[in-house]
Amino acid sequence: MNRSPRVNYDEIAPLYDSQPYRSRAVDAELPAFLAEHASSEAVSLLDIGCGTGNQLVANQSAAPGARLVGLDRSLGMLRQAASKARAIAWVQGDAAALPFQTGSFDFVSSQYAFHHFPDKAGILRAVFRVLGPGDRFVLRNLCPRESADWLYYRYFPEAHIADLHDFSGRPRRSLRSWKGPGLRRCRWHTSMSASSRT
Ligand SMILES: C[S@@+](CC[C@H](N)C(=O)[O-])C[C@H]1O[C@@H](n2cnc3c(N)ncnc32)[C@H](O)[C@@H]1O
Repeated sequence: MNRSPRVNYDEIAPLYDSQPYRSRAVDAELPAFLAEHASSEAVSLLDIGCGTGNQLVANQSAAPGARLVGLDRSLGMLRQAASKARAIAWVQGDAAALPFQTGSFDFVSSQYAFHHFPDKAGILRAVFRVLGPGDRFVLRNLCPRESADWLYYRYFPEAHIADLHDFSGRPRRSLRSWKGPGLRRCRWHTSMSASSRT
C-alpha cells in the first residue's frame, strides 16, 4: 500500500479514470519537439507521476517507435496503466530518485503531480539529470492560489492548505526559485480551463 500525504492513490486507482476531465489527448508540446528530431524512433519519453497512464497512451500515436516510460509511486495506478498498454514500460518509483541513467531521456513530462512532491527543487534536479542538453521538460499543474473553488479542495480543505504552503508564491516565481541549474529557456503558459485541472 502506497500513501501520498494527500491522497491514497492505491485506493482510488480503479475509480480514477471515471473523472470526466482527465486528458486523453497527445501532449500539445510533443509534436513540436518531435519535429525538431530526425526520427521519433530514436526518442525516449518519460512521464513522471504518470498515474493511470493516459498521457503516455495518447502520446504513443504521436511518437510511434519511441521508447515510452511511465513512473509512479502507486502500484494501483500503474496496474491501471499497464492494462491499457503493455508496450509502455511502467515503473514504480519515487520522482525524487529517478531510477534511470543520466541523460537517458529526451522529453520528460509531468501532469498534475508536482503539488504532491515535497522537494520540488530536488525533483527538478532529478529531471535535469535524466535529460540531455537541449531536451525538454513539460510540467503541467494547477495553481493552488487560483483554484480555491476546485471541487477537490472543497472536499479536502487540508490539501488546499498544504498546496498553498508548498507553492508559496505565484507559480512563475516559484518555478524560478526551484529551477536551479539546468533550465536554459523557460516558456510559460497559463490556463484557467476547468478541464485542465486535476
Ligand atoms: C493527480 S495524479 C496525476 C496522474 C496523471 N499524471 C494524470 O494527469 O492523470 C498524481 C499522481 O502522482 C503520483 N505521485 C505522487 N507522489 C509521487 C512521487 N513522489 N513519485 C512518483 N509519483 C508520485 C500519484 O501516485 C498519482 O498517480
